[in-house]
Amino acid sequence: MAIFPAFLLLFWTCTIRGITASKPNFVLFMADDLGIGEIGCFGNKTLRTPNIDRLAAEGVKLTHHIAAAAICTPSRAAFMTGRYPVRSGMTGHDGYAVLMWNAVSGGLPPNETTFPKILKEQGYTTGIIGKWHLGMNCGSRNDFCHHPLNHGFDYYFGLPFTLINDCDDSLPTEIHIAFKKKLLFYGQLFAVALVTIMVCKQIRLITISWKVIVIFAFLPILFFGYWYVAYEFMNYWNCFLMRNFEITEQPLDPDTTAVKMINEATSFISRNKQGPFLLIVSFLHIHTPYITTKRFRGKSKHGLYGDNIEELDWMTGEILATIDQEGLVNNTLTYFTSDHGAYLEGLNTVNKGFNGIYRGGKGMGGLEGGIRVPGILRWPGVLPANTVIDEPTSLMDIYPTVIKLGEGKIPEDRITDGKDLMPLVQGLDSTSPHDFMFHYCSDQLHAVRWYQKSSHTVWKVHYISPKFSPEGSSACFRSKLCSCSGDLVLHHVPPLLYNLSNDPSEKMPIASDLATYQEMMEEIERAVANHRASLHPVPLQLYKFNNLWDPRLQSCCGIFPFCSCRKE
Ligand SMILES: *[C@@H]1O[C@H](CO)[C@@H](O)[C@H](O)[C@H]1NC(C)=O
Ligand SMILES: *[C@@H]1O[C@H](CO)[C@@H](O)[C@H](O)[C@H]1NC(C)=O
Ligand SMILES: *[C@@H]1O[C@H](CO)[C@@H](O)[C@H](O)[C@H]1NC(C)=O
Ligand SMILES: *[C@@H]1O[C@H](CO)[C@@H](O)[C@H](O)[C@H]1NC(C)=O
Repeated sequence: MAIFPAFLLLFWTCTIRGITASKPNFVLFMADDLGIGEIGCFGNKTLRTPNIDRLAAEGVKLTHHIAAAAICTPSRAAFMTGRYPVRSGMTGHDGYAVLMWNAVSGGLPPNETTFPKILKEQGYTTGIIGKWHLGMNCGSRNDFCHHPLNHGFDYYFGLPFTLINDCDDSLPTEIHIAFKKKLLFYGQLFAVALVTIMVCKQIRLITISWKVIVIFAFLPILFFGYWYVAYEFMNYWNCFLMRNFEITEQPLDPDTTAVKMINEATSFISRNKQGPFLLIVSFLHIHTPYITTKRFRGKSKHGLYGDNIEELDWMTGEILATIDQEGLVNNTLTYFTSDHGAYLEGLNTVNKGFNGIYRGGKGMGGLEGGIRVPGILRWPGVLPANTVIDEPTSLMDIYPTVIKLGEGKIPEDRITDGKDLMPLVQGLDSTSPHDFMFHYCSDQLHAVRWYQKSSHTVWKVHYISPKFSPEGSSACFRSKLCSCSGDLVLHHVPPLLYNLSNDPSEKMPIASDLATYQEMMEEIERAVANHRASLHPVPLQLYKFNNLWDPRLQSCCGIFPFCSCRKE
């Protein structure tokens, strides 16, 4: 009697093993702010990116790969959820574009289902190394409601926030510079008023009790003091490394982070080579301030900016080498992309991004340069090598693609905007699964792309676009980042329509009195109405009180406010 169940168990175990072995591993590389014009295999002739180029040579290069937003937090939220960021409340509003501090209550809502969460349920070991920028806590210092480990990851090592100038002590502060200036201005104004009142009281020009003066002085001093402290300690508050739930380095040591990330990624792969595993390598490169180790400094033809890109490529190569050494290359789907286009308003002309033939860049809503990014998929034996696909695809497509390969189920209680890419990239289908794509700048719909299959044409309409400053330039140099609404945008009436298939640089809008224009616009308007009808109001995660520094939420190694440690 005992033999039979034992036999069954053995059979069952083998079957489970068999299924597990057939599931591929996933290694997904995401660069930060890397433009489509900045790597060799996408046409850059002067920067050396042999490792990323090798991925393209061994796999499929996607030349029409579109990010769901032109800025970090919303684009990454869409990547993780396969949904437009408006659906999860991860779009900005009214000047708030991304999460501004580690200690804010906004972040990827706990009720969103990320693809790592689903893969984990399918037996995957899941890890993410590097930048997160999707929030940390909701209501108290250590509730970790937005932390990677509460969004389906088994392992996390990295910078939960994003690289900012403040992470390098020698640079001027970056976040909310305008706000800080305003604060200082009002602070000084207040101080002058206070001193004037006190002097007037002293020389008996006014009769007002000292009590009233003290009360008048107390609250604003507290308020200014609170904000001032937040700015002065930005380096401690935002730039730190975590391993799982533990802060290991606060503030982080910028010179050693690249090597730490490589070591973490390669040891994750080696540890989990039995598979199946998911590893996301979310680079801090090539965000400002372009922190680059000595080995790469001064080596490229494009200053510190180019050095940083070449270091990013080297890091990619080190991790690819581990995939090779562990013999995992043929059962690993490897992906490379960037969260959005390059930043054009850089520190100076040398450190300026480049988005190839595409107009615009980071933070510019619908302009092609802000959202068309490099996309590469490699899986030897399953995907063809050295193949170029020009059909429209989205970063959100990774969501259903990897869930399906991992034999998981896509949530049915909500809309998923990404599409399974396997038929297209395997060459079974020749056309993209996408018809329309909606391009938001924060919560404003700036542009729409329509792939009209019958004429094999990709159309794009712009309703709103940024007003460049200074006028005549091609970026928002004055404000360092373009705005999405208000006086700093242009409303196009009638909207500008482009045939992207013959005008990828968006230079020649189609005359609005042509019959084609009317026809196309009618079709697009209908799709916009349907899309709008599919949206439901959700809490705005990046807005106002969800995005203001709150000391109660500050991640801290030690006893707040004395946060500092070096455990690495
Ligand atoms: C390569 O990228 C750099 C850095 O963005 C850029 O300045 C340069 O113009 C690009 N070169 C070519 C040939 O595309
Ligand atoms: C991987 O697959 C390719 C193509 O099918 C084959 O040529 C190669 O030898 C395989 N490599 C390994 C390490 O199994
Ligand atoms: C758009 O441009 C493409 C590429 O030149 C062309 O083949 C197509 O006919 C154009 N579409 C229309 C409807 O004019
Ligand atoms: C998550 O919760 C918010 C309210 O807290 C709700 O508006 C939203 O629809 C929920 N999202 C999902 C996918 O269930």
